[in-house]
Parts: sequence; C-alpha cells; structure tokens
Amino acid sequence: MTYTKKVPQSVQWNETHIKLLDQTKLPLETVFIDLFSIEDVWDSITTLKVRGAPAIGITAAFGLALSAQGYDVTSIQEFKERLQKDKEYLASSRPTAVNLIWALNRLVASIEASKSVNEAKTTLVHEAIRIQAEDEGVCRQIGKYALSLFKDGFKVLTICNAGSIATARYGTALAPFHLAAQQGINLSVYASETRPVLQGARLTTWELLQSGVDVTLITDNMAAHTILEKGIDAIIVGADRITANGDTANKIGTFNLAVLAKTFGIPFYVAAPLSTFDVTLESGKEIPIEERNPEEVTHLGGVRVAPEEVKVYNPAFDVTPNELITAIITEKGILQGELRTEIQQVFER
Ligand code: MRU
Repeated sequence: MTYTKKVPQSVQWNETHIKLLDQTKLPLETVFIDLFSIEDVWDSITTLKVRGAPAIGITAAFGLALSAQGYDVTSIQEFKERLQKDKEYLASSRPTAVNLIWALNRLVASIEASKSVNEAKTTLVHEAIRIQAEDEGVCRQIGKYALSLFKDGFKVLTICNAGSIATARYGTALAPFHLAAQQGINLSVYASETRPVLQGARLTTWELLQSGVDVTLITDNMAAHTILEKGIDAIIVGADRITANGDTANKIGTFNLAVLAKTFGIPFYVAAPLSTFDVTLESGKEIPIEERNPEEVTHLGGVRVAPEEVKVYNPAFDVTPNELITAIITEKGILQGELRTEIQQVFER
C-alpha cells in the first residue's frame, strides 16, 4: 500500500500523551506535537491543528481518556462527575461536527457499569482506541462503496479535506481515490482550495499527491467553469452533521457545489460514517453553524488583505438541502432516493 506508508496517521495515542499531526503547518512542514492536558486538546481542536469530523471525535475521545487518568479520586461517583465536566468542556471546542459529542458520549457510556476508578480509567482508554480502530474500517468500507460509483478515467471535484488526516485513515470523500490508486484505477481529482483556511489547497493536494492520485488545484470560484471545461463527472464531499432528512452540513462552499451539480446534471455525493448522522435533528435548520475568527477572512498567510474597518461574516460550514444530494455513501451502503426513509432504515439495520 503506497499511501499508508506516506500519509501519517494524524492522531496517535501514546499512553502519557497524544501525538498529533499539526495540520496548520501542512504542507510546508510535517510537525507532530505532544498533548499532555485536556486544555492542549481543546486548543488543538479549536485552532484546527486537528480538524475533520471523525479526527476531532477521535482526538476528543483520547483527550477525555487522558484527562481521566489524572483524576485523584477513589469514589467512582466522583470520577463520573469529573468526567462529565471534562466532557462538556471538550464538547465546547467546536459546535458543528457531531462526531465530537458522539465520541465523548461513547466514552462516558463505556464506564456506566465500571465498579472502580481503576477499571474506569482502563475502560476509557480502550474505548478511545476502539473508536479510532473502528473508524479506519468504516472509512475503508465507505471508500469501496464510493469507488463503485466511479468509472476508470472519471474526473471528480471535491472541497475541503475529507481525507486520511481528517479520520483514522483513508478518509471519507477521499477514500475512493486512495483505494483507486492502490488498484490502478485512474481517477482525476479537482481540489477546490477551500477559503478561508485552505484545507483543499494545503491538505487535500498534499495527501493525494503522496498516494499518487492525479490531483489538480483550483480556486473556489473556478468550480463552474472547471465543471464545464474539464468535463467533471461527479462531485464528492464529506460531512460534519447529517440530519434525519438528509440535509448535510459540511465545509462552507459545499452548498455552492451542490447547486452547480444540479445545474450541470452531474451527481453530487456525500461520503460520511454513521457517526456523522444526528437523527435527533429533523432538518439542517437546526444544525449549529460555527462562525470563526474574522482574521481568517481578512488575512492570507498572516498578511492583512482587507481594510481594518471592514465587517466580516465567516461561517465555517453551510447546509446542503437533501434534494440536491444524489446519494449519501456510508459504511452500511449507499443511501439514495427518499433519504429520510433510507436513513431511518440504515439505523434499524
Ligand atoms: O473546519 P474543518 O476543516 O474541520 O471542516 C472539515 C469538513 O468540513 C470535512 O469535510 C468534514 O469534517 C468531513 S472529514 C472526513
């Protein structure tokens, strides 16, 4: 396997600390940082050192397990109370990706039956490791299903980075490209740069180049022209939260691409694990959309490009309505048609 050797795992558990690939430094530097405290973990998620819905969930799970190792208490009740507080703290690091709270809830639930503090400490670490291991298998399966939708020679457009470094491994929207490269299937990827933080330009191109995938970078405003001129066959994106009716929150700019897909009559695919679904929400209107620091918009590479006094609107995500989505590719199969029913059924399986 070419790529697994070259694309490092973005989150690694190291018993006394978490080793994290600092994604803000890519592609110029491949730097790993060590996180020793829950504050380090919160900060790394907030500042996008780790980003991408599944990777955020995995990091938070390890962060909660790490913090709990240091609880100097003997009562399991007291242990659970402290865990609950730490869970809420980590959950406040980013609001949109539901994998964050999903993973934290899984950790808390894992120690429900624990009788002693020592048992609970071990269980938490095991559960976090399990979440990461499961995600790798899930992403590989998503990649297989997604690849079945693409023919040799297809040109596919994507946005942001829903790749290996945004998950345990392989990615969601990028998984089919990694698998295609391994199998000698030729796919060409067009990566939209993804302003304001440039996950497409910095991360997706870096990741796919290492796998030997044919990747071409475009700026976000080149999408319509590129679809027309280059004959893009499909668009595939990741997701941060999918509601019961199939509405999908993903990186800002995703909605634009879905509108373009409809205009040009090409399929628009969402690739996401079941851990990204939030079926407690009826529709995308209920998804909390993160607004980030105006400096992400007024500055480029630390250099101001807009007037000091300008007002800024900087939503990090948008919601693509279900009617613009051709299919949602999950580890349990490809959901298409009446998405609400399909989603309900996949959770009953
Ligand atoms: O702000 P980010 O970089 O965390 O946003 C990431 C995305 O929007 C991804 O597409 C999504 O989390 C899926 S990652 C497999």
